[in-house]
Amino acid sequence: MYSAKVIDHFSNPRNVGEIENPSGVGTVGNARCGDIMRMYLDIDEQSIIREVKFKTFGCGAAVAASSMATELVKGKTIQEALKVTNKVVLEALDGLPPVKVHCSLLAEEAIHAALWDYAEKKHIVIEGLEKPVNDVSETAEGEGY
Ligand code: FES
Repeated sequence: MYSAKVIDHFSNPRNVGEIENPSGVGTVGNARCGDIMRMYLDIDEQSIIREVKFKTFGCGAAVAASSMATELVKGKTIQEALKVTNKVVLEALDGLPPVKVHCSLLAEEAIHAALWDYAEKKHIVIEGLEKPVNDVSETAEGEGY
């Protein structure tokens, strides 16, 4: 049912954790299951993603997709990272069962949300990046209550 790569990334997820004082952080939720993903990025002056970490309350497919996505964006420029779409992550994992594809979307959305946060902090516009619709950081942090 799951590819060897999915099982590997689920069993040994890469880049789990958090970054202190990240350049950008994004938190997204999956409306279908209520699972949550948070992505931290450390971006240098050359717009290169030096470090990336993630944390999730998500299922195995979400963990594997996020682990793979972090590997794919690490060391890349912001523009290159935007090309790491859900489809690219799925291909790198040799696919997921159709019922689990929505889980992998969390990874792409969380990276975009973290990039959006970075752009807002830096007062810059990242070409091709749209405002995340799924950013639940405020509720996840318990802020605003
Ligand atoms: Fe929620 Fe997979 S079941 S992310």
